[in-house]
Amino acid sequence: MQIENKEFWEIGNVIEVQDREKAASDHELFLFEKAKAVFGSISSIDTIKIFGCGTGREINQIAKFFEPSKIIASDISKNMIEKCNENLQVWNINDITETLVVDAKDYTEPKNSFDLVTILNSMLTYVSDKKSRTQIFSNAYQILKQDGVLIGTVHNQEGTFLKTTYFKLKSMFSFYYGEKVGNRMTGYNGFKVQGYYYSKKGLMEDIQSANFKNIEIYSLEEYYQLIDIKYNRKKGYNNLIFIAQK
Ligand SMILES: C[S@@+](CC[C@H](N)C(=O)[O-])C[C@H]1O[C@@H](n2cnc3c(N)ncnc32)[C@H](O)[C@@H]1O
Repeated sequence: MQIENKEFWEIGNVIEVQDREKAASDHELFLFEKAKAVFGSISSIDTIKIFGCGTGREINQIAKFFEPSKIIASDISKNMIEKCNENLQVWNINDITETLVVDAKDYTEPKNSFDLVTILNSMLTYVSDKKSRTQIFSNAYQILKQDGVLIGTVHNQEGTFLKTTYFKLKSMFSFYYGEKVGNRMTGYNGFKVQGYYYSKKGLMEDIQSANFKNIEIYSLEEYYQLIDIKYNRKKGYNNLIFIAQK
């Protein structure tokens, strides 16, 4: 059954799949370390905005890693935030974390306030229209302090053979698909939502359009090459990970 993004993330057993207490993945830790290094010459990372926090998995990891005094975490799904609030109490980080139900494209205030903004675990994959995605990058820019850092992950058009071929074919008809080349149905548990898969070039353009500097993007294949680990992109998601600075 095809449904809308918000509707999908309000469903009980969709939330259950997400509600796992999990350590940060190696590429998330890589982004955390990089963010610390980039911002470190100014001060420590103390105020953090998390977009698409779901049930809070990365809030816990981010709180442990950066030990910030303030986190504002938001999600489009009310039911996700309810579950997240329960988790924050269990993890004992409810005193430093404020949660909100809001679409990331509408979160524009407070300006110049955060040292770090995160859009992890491919929240942007579920934002199927380009205008909203670029609006979210602009919002991230606006709420960051000067020199603040944005980190995130998105799904990649290049990965398994089938996925790569699907998007290559669509790219050949880009005169027809236009900005919708990266759109593909996704979802699970029998529900389908319209998704968006980025090319590295397209991601660079969208982040640049929001005026960020020092943009670095790696596919997981490239990231694992950096740390000398073999990654089989024919089997993995090969997501794109990114870091940029205001
Ligand atoms: C794959 S889940 C990841 C959740 C969490 N970041 C994690 O790593 O466990 C994607 C999340 O993005 C949220 N989301 C999707 N579109 C959104 C939007 N436009 N604004 C805010 N949150 C959104 C969904 O509700 C969902 O919780």
